[in-house]
Amino acid sequence: MNIILTGSTGFVGARVLYQLQKEGYAVTCIPSEMLKGDISDKQLLSLMRIFAEANPDVIVHTAAISSTVYSEQHPDESYIANVKLPQVMAKLAVANQCKLISCSSDQVYCGCTGIEPYSEKEEGLAPTNVYGRHKLEAEKRILDICPDAVSLRLSWMYDLPVYQTKTNHSFVLALIKSALTGKAVIYSVNDFRGITYVRSVAENISKTFNLVGGVYNYGSENEKNMYATACVFMVAMGMENRIPELIQLTDAQPLRNLRMDCTKLRGCDIHFETTTESINKMIADYTGLF
Ligand SMILES: NC(=O)c1ccc[n+]([C@@H]2O[C@H](COP(=O)([O-])OP(=O)(O)OC[C@H]3O[C@@H](n4cnc5c(N)ncnc54)[C@H](OP(=O)(O)O)[C@@H]3O)[C@@H](O)[C@H]2O)c1
Repeated sequence: MNIILTGSTGFVGARVLYQLQKEGYAVTCIPSEMLKGDISDKQLLSLMRIFAEANPDVIVHTAAISSTVYSEQHPDESYIANVKLPQVMAKLAVANQCKLISCSSDQVYCGCTGIEPYSEKEEGLAPTNVYGRHKLEAEKRILDICPDAVSLRLSWMYDLPVYQTKTNHSFVLALIKSALTGKAVIYSVNDFRGITYVRSVAENISKTFNLVGGVYNYGSENEKNMYATACVFMVAMGMENRIPELIQLTDAQPLRNLRMDCTKLRGCDIHFETTTESINKMIADYTGLF
């Protein structure tokens, strides 16, 4: 089976590439330079040539501007990367009669005021940040072009730094930095979100190739608030005695709930550990270090 992968130099894409090759897929990576900026006719022709050669069965589209902060500051760039580029991928999927798996985000729920985890509702979503709005618009536009396409709503992810592989800002790195510097980090008891070990995201990706077109919440569920989640990591690292020194609890911030209900995904036999379980999975992966 032939796969086209975008964003293979990224935090998620690099791990997806490793995983798909391990599973025996023939993966063609599109260099990021070919995807940056408003896609010109010349760029499109080059892409069409690569697609014709690769003869893909599936496109896994991870390339994006992934920073909410950068998107907020550069909305035009975000629109090009996070709305227009996915549409190009959807058109290429139709032209090449292949499946499109595209990365969306739990930020589409940003601004929702519910207290329970959200199922894949689309009505009434009005993300309060640029990135979330663009991801939501991309989901809709992709499906208009290619009803068989799949958008995965990914949650915040983490891993330990891996040599020559992109690492993203995560709560795990913040806590390790805090342990090294002795400078405390503040976590809110009113902040709720799933956080996912990126290895599990990559390990499940080939199972998404069989999903019916649509939008799916895709990641670890988490009953705990961010303060409690940070404490889980400290305990798993054997640093529970440093919790009072390194983690400050606040209840001053308003409620934020980005938690996703992954029942739909489970119904398709795709399973994630809870965030607590995934923290222990990651630490087990790096046991040589501890
Ligand atoms: N990381 C998370 O916690 C998280 C959470 C929810 C959703 N997501 C989504 O998951 C997907 C993968 O995220 P990630 O963390 O792997 O992102 P990342 O580490 O920032 O990697 C982004 C990839 O896209 C490329 N890229 C950067 N700017 C681009 C642009 N303007 N146009 C086209 N390509 C561009 C990068 O190429 P260069 O290396 O050449 O810059 C890199 O290959 C994205 O859709 C992101 O929005 C991520």
